[in-house]
Order: sequence, then C-alpha cells, then structure tokens
Amino acid sequence: MHEDVERILLTEAQIQAGIDRVAREVTAVYRGQAFTVVSVLKGSCVFASDLIRRIPIPLELAFVSASSYGEGVESGRLEVNFFPAESEIQGRDLLLVDDILDTGRTLSRLVDEMRRRGARSVRTCVFLDKPARRATPLSADFRAFEVDNLFVVGYGLDFAGHYRNLPYVGALKRECYERPRSAAR
Ligand code: XMP
Repeated sequence: MHEDVERILLTEAQIQAGIDRVAREVTAVYRGQAFTVVSVLKGSCVFASDLIRRIPIPLELAFVSASSYGEGVESGRLEVNFFPAESEIQGRDLLLVDDILDTGRTLSRLVDEMRRRGARSVRTCVFLDKPARRATPLSADFRAFEVDNLFVVGYGLDFAGHYRNLPYVGALKRECYERPRSAAR
C-alpha cells in the first residue's frame, strides 16, 4: 500500500493536531446542548472515532451510509444506503461528519434529507475540504484541513475500497488510479 503513495500530505501528528483543534471548536459550540454526531460511512469512520474521543461533553453517535457511484476518481450518482432511525433524527441537533467535502453533493443532499426528516438543526464537520471542486454553495461549519485538487487516500479515504487503513493522508500515484480496478492493492 505505502508504495502506491506519491507523497504524504498530512502526517499522523498533523492529523491529530488538526482534530484537536476541530474538537475544541465543536465543544465550544455544543457545550450545554444535547447533540448527535452522524458519521457518514464509510469514509468518515476513522475521523469520527478520533474526533468524538476528543470532545469531552455528552453526545450521541449515529450513522448514515452514502455511496457515490462514479468511475475511478470522479464522484457520480449518489445513493443513500441507510439513514439513522427516525427517533435519532426528529427534533435532534445533528452534526454530520464526513471525510471530505469535494463537489459538496453528498453533504448537501444529506443536510436536506435530515431537515426534511425533522432534525432541529444540522451542522457539518469535515476532515478535508477541497474547495476547488465545489459544485454546490455548501461550506462546512467545521473542517480540519483544506487540500488541493488532488485525489487523496488514507485515514478513512479510499480508492476502489482500499487504502482506508493508511494512518496518514497521501496523494495516490497516477498509475494506481489509471490501472484497472481489479489490480488495486
Ligand atoms: P462530494 O463532496 O463530491 O464527495 O459529494 C463525495 C464523496 O467522494 C469521495 N471523495 C474522495 N474520496 N479521495 C477519496 O478517497 C478524494 O480525493 C475524494 N474526493 C471525494 C468521498 O467519499 C466523499 O464523501
């Protein structure tokens, strides 16, 4: 896996420092208020699990699963595979946590759906923000890092299902995303 990474963009130490900062920001906003962190699977599970352990106030945890069916490194048609239970959404203050805000289609759709299903408030928190690719007016309420317009993997982010377990964030070598999917390591 490591040999497929062109260069490391964020080291483990940088990631932990960024998450400490975001956790403090989230804590300041939600102190004294019940809220639910909704982790967008699969990509945000690593970020969400580190983030919540740095937030020293009461919170609940829920999951939503969305997949965008695109070719290679392009995001395409979005499908929501499952939502939290009605009781976890209605009247709740939700913090949607995702791995990356890219075109913004995933989070825009999920924010709209959560409001439609009766959430009292919905904020967004992303590990990475790639503003160069935005196709919707959404901006995240909290973000750990901004990244350039590169396809990145690691720390929950995948290519063709792989690389989520890299402890850092790296840019993938071009030949890795240009070779057939079945050959990805
Ligand atoms: P948007 O904001 O375009 O993001 O709806 C959709 C989903 O696409 C994935 N994504 C990436 N995954 N490296 C990845 O591993 C990337 O650079 C990247 N850009 C987008 C991600 O799952 C996001 O939630």
